[in-house]
Amino acid sequence: MINSVRGTKDILPVEVPIWNFVERTLGQVSRLYGFGEIRTPIMERTEVFLRSLGEETDIVNKEMYTFLDKGGDSITLRPEMTASVVRSILQNNLLFGNNVLRLWYIGPLFRYERPQKGRLRQFHQYGAELIGSIEPEADVEILLLANSLIQNLGILNYSLQINSIGNSYSRKKYKDILVRFLVEHRNYLSLESKERLERNPLRILDSKDEKDQEILLRAPNILEYLDGRSLEHFDYVQKLLKENSIDFVINPRLVRGLDYYSHTVFEFQSEILGAQDAFGGGGRYDELFQQFGSKEIPAIGFALGIERIILILEQLNKFKQKSEPLVFVAYTNPTYINEVISIAENLRKHKIPSIFDIQRKSLKAQLKEANKQNATFTLIVGDEEIAKRQATLRNMGNSSQTSIPFENLVEYLNSANVNLALGNNK
Ligand code: HAM
Repeated sequence: MINSVRGTKDILPVEVPIWNFVERTLGQVSRLYGFGEIRTPIMERTEVFLRSLGEETDIVNKEMYTFLDKGGDSITLRPEMTASVVRSILQNNLLFGNNVLRLWYIGPLFRYERPQKGRLRQFHQYGAELIGSIEPEADVEILLLANSLIQNLGILNYSLQINSIGNSYSRKKYKDILVRFLVEHRNYLSLESKERLERNPLRILDSKDEKDQEILLRAPNILEYLDGRSLEHFDYVQKLLKENSIDFVINPRLVRGLDYYSHTVFEFQSEILGAQDAFGGGGRYDELFQQFGSKEIPAIGFALGIERIILILEQLNKFKQKSEPLVFVAYTNPTYINEVISIAENLRKHKIPSIFDIQRKSLKAQLKEANKQNATFTLIVGDEEIAKRQATLRNMGNSSQTSIPFENLVEYLNSANVNLALGNNK
């Protein structure tokens, strides 16, 4: 047997309804906030991610699916979408004058991580990017959108953690002070944190190791090293959040795993998820456009992990799958096939899903199959039905049977009290 690649997952027909629900809800709420959808290619030139995400980040260092194509170009399967969106905005000149751009996306991403619950090598994200405003109002608008998305999905119990990591100047100052502190405690740090001390010391603040956490309790606080403007910005974001009843927790150790962030950063966490408790995260990236050779364009955005959201919804048992309406056309003689096809095609033309036997099964076996397929109705076409041009319609819910002339089937099924027409089922 050939199995799927480690860390990838099939989304099977029984799971598709919950995916459809999540995707549909995310799209609908995004449109309420005036965001337009963008779809970028799954593969990009490697340089799109190399510097923008940070050469010392885990993603660039060890998690990218990078390969040389047959033409010798270095290609990477996107590990995140913000850099792709920035590339696309610049390439397609989507931003002109003093405009603001509101974009959202959904799609698969690839990271070579160690698979575990909620962590895959191919996973999916919804993301939103608000481009063109440096003001704290933009931060609040993006958090209002994120909150509304999460709540519309039915997730009410979660924590929004926020922090400010200032501008690159204040961050560098803080980094030096943090490194000085951590070097003093070097011998007690975990192996991973020791390694990070050289390459990416801020990420040590994220460490889940117990001993590290003990040391970090005494570590200098990044918020105390912010410059005046950064502080003012962060204070105003908090004020607006409070005034608009958005609950949040300030977490000065929240730094995020990508280098392009500055000022406000945030994460959505749920206890339901266990170790991988973040189901979404984002922040400002005011300096990212410049790395693509553009003028300075401030922006803020976030992404939600769809698999993690679905894990939460499954735990909450919130998603009740409506049974799809379906008519099974059963028939007693293979020679009736053209009549059966014509009935099924007519139902389909009127948006009533229908299937019929294609294995020449006995009527008894067809009725069993109709049950297995969860049919709402079974239409029986036998000798008498053909003679009278009336089908026997069996309601699979209560087993009642009625005789309906072929030409009245659509009308009857549409009026039948079962929300049968696909249009009524949405
Ligand atoms: P991120 O924090 O790397 O941010 O990913 C966002 C979310 O994607 C995470 O909170 C998590 O739910 C999900 N996720 C990440 N890695 C995996 C994985 N291996 N398996 C399953 N789910 C995963 C970003 O990607 C930024 N581009 C977000 C952003 C947009 N910032 C500004 N704009």
